[in-house]
Amino acid sequence: MKYISKSFFIEGVKVRNLAKNFKTPIYCYSYKKLKENINNFKKNFKSLNPLVCFAVKANANLKLLKEIKKFGLGADVVSLGELTKALKAGINPKKIVFSGVGKTSEELRFAIDKKILLINAESKSEILEIEKIARGKRRSVNIGIRLNPNTDAKTLSQISTGKKQDKFGVSEKYFLELVKYVKNSQFIKLKCISVHIGSQILNHQPFEKMLKVVDGVIKKSNYKFEFIDLGGGMGISYSKRVKNLNYKKYLAAIKKILKKHTAKIIFEPGRSIVGNTAILVSKVIYIKQGSNKNFIILDAAMNDLMRPALYGAKHQILPENKIKTSSKKTYEFVGPICESTDSFLTVKKFQKLNEKDLIIISDVGAYGMSLSSNYNVRLKPAEILIKGRKINIIKKRQKLEDLI
Ligand code: LLP
Repeated sequence: MKYISKSFFIEGVKVRNLAKNFKTPIYCYSYKKLKENINNFKKNFKSLNPLVCFAVKANANLKLLKEIKKFGLGADVVSLGELTKALKAGINPKKIVFSGVGKTSEELRFAIDKKILLINAESKSEILEIEKIARGKRRSVNIGIRLNPNTDAKTLSQISTGKKQDKFGVSEKYFLELVKYVKNSQFIKLKCISVHIGSQILNHQPFEKMLKVVDGVIKKSNYKFEFIDLGGGMGISYSKRVKNLNYKKYLAAIKKILKKHTAKIIFEPGRSIVGNTAILVSKVIYIKQGSNKNFIILDAAMNDLMRPALYGAKHQILPENKIKTSSKKTYEFVGPICESTDSFLTVKKFQKLNEKDLIIISDVGAYGMSLSSNYNVRLKPAEILIKGRKINIIKKRQKLEDLI
């Protein structure tokens, strides 16, 4: 993704032509970036030979899942819908883990029937439900138990999951009790200890702390876990100023605990696999003069990309057509939805824009389309995958008929 003589390109395709042919707003993905991310992830943890399960919640596009599967990744799913999609993408059930605090009986039955690798349970009630279903089917079911390590992920509070006040996982004390219970179960085989402390983590220290807690709990449980599932959470850089996660330090901390407890490591990365693979292309509908800034009113809105409205997340905005100009403006980029939070970003010294110009919203591959909605009865945008010069529509724009 770069400018070639002032026009923005994804691989070999000019974004302006995509906008002309497929209208805006539109999600455009780069296959090359996806491949790079997966290969880098694998390289970073090569010495562990881990099972990498892509967190489908980050992006559930079926065609993308099929591409991800081709690199040998498994899937981390959190609903019947995600599990169905992962299976439809051809992902081997033996590479699928099922997370989430509220799996229904229907979801558990389906997962058990499909013989997935692990159900990561998050409460005693859930374990009892799994046991009941397994007994009914005269089957033995493999599970993990998610530990809440009470570790601050030092990320946005809305996406932190590993502190004791969070709804996720079980406390150390409860974990140890559950291990005792499951040890004696005829129908449940405890295979895994799992953790996930949050998302968009850029500092390795929370991971180190989390691993220390896991180490202590394994020791106290006196149980041999076949898998240690460390979840996802690896952050990406949404702006040039932000430093990337130090994977070497994270790896070193993992190796340290593996010296004491040999186990197969599972990762559940979402954002680090798809976050920087996509842009959202949008057109300026109107420019409106405010009292101290100008509003750029876009045809993309919070229903297309929810992260800024929901978390105050900042996605860089770029002009599609770079021009050399000394005329710079302060702009607030907003959508047309009737909510004050329908605002993407305020930028100082942006090149002067005109109505009908195109802009690029960056790094929207993770939790972009997957969090989109039909709020205000707006149609969900199309998704396009670019491979070199090849253009593949991987999801058509919704039609009004789909909604009415
Ligand atoms: N595993 C579990 C159990 C999770 O809950 C999550 C994300 C992941 C893996 C993947 O985490 P990642 O590698 O993508 O950080 N919508 C928010 C992020 C929510 C993350 C929820 N859980 C956002 O747009 O920032």
